Amino acid sequence: MKVIKVINNNKAGEVAGDIILNIVKNKANAILGLATGSTPISTYKYLIEKTKNQKVDWSNIKSFNLDEYKGLSSEHKQSYRYFMNNTFFDHINIDKKNTFVPDGLIETNEQAAKYDKDIKMAGGIDIQLLGLGINGHIVFNEPGTLFDSITSIVDLTQSTIEVNSRFFKDKKDVPNQAISMGLNSIMKAKEIVLIATGKSKAEAVKHLIEGPISKDWPCTILLEHPNITVIIDGRSIRITFLKSFRGFFSLKFN
Ligand code: F6R
Repeated sequence: MKVIKVINNNKAGEVAGDIILNIVKNKANAILGLATGSTPISTYKYLIEKTKNQKVDWSNIKSFNLDEYKGLSSEHKQSYRYFMNNTFFDHINIDKKNTFVPDGLIETNEQAAKYDKDIKMAGGIDIQLLGLGINGHIVFNEPGTLFDSITSIVDLTQSTIEVNSRFFKDKKDVPNQAISMGLNSIMKAKEIVLIATGKSKAEAVKHLIEGPISKDWPCTILLEHPNITVIIDGRSIRITFLKSFRGFFSLKFN
């Protein structure tokens, strides 16, 4: 695991963006794995800016997004499809027919599992962009998820619902299920770049980097990936350090 420390989320977006751009420029038909949430917004902004300045061609690129809320149609303003169009796809020359987001309206795990087959048929993901949940989830694989999970309908934990309610008018509007790529699906990507910035991610970052590999912290499975870059900022590690420091004192003086 390669760990890069940057000053803030904007810089993380540039570093991740350069890794992605390098692939897009060298492989015209590359397959990208894309994420939603607050974390990757700076990456998309940077990619849009570079595309304008450097005339980057996305016309033969394919993308597969990680997840979608169950029950939300692609037109729903809080759907991840809507987010991706709005934040990224509408600003580059990617063919929307080549962009895939799990269908939030499916009803069965059999339907969900087809997503993994589609990725395989397309040739597999060349580069997967990931964020990190406060509780260590990656995609919507919450603590306790089996490491061999594939794309399926999953339950969101109460804490994830609460964290994500910032995007909805009311907490009760947040769906309690999602269609999520599995941990096994993610581990198949040829390369992964994960961004974790901000102090709320500090505990998850500590587990991600130090292990041990455990289902309690789903992100720790990434320690087994052969080609992963983790981009963190000072805030996402400083608290970790302070916590161990406090732990040291209580150990010493209690
Ligand atoms: C989004 C996703 C989630 C987020 C995670 C962090 O597609 O799969 O796992 O990456 O919840 O979200 P933010 O970036 O909003 O802190």
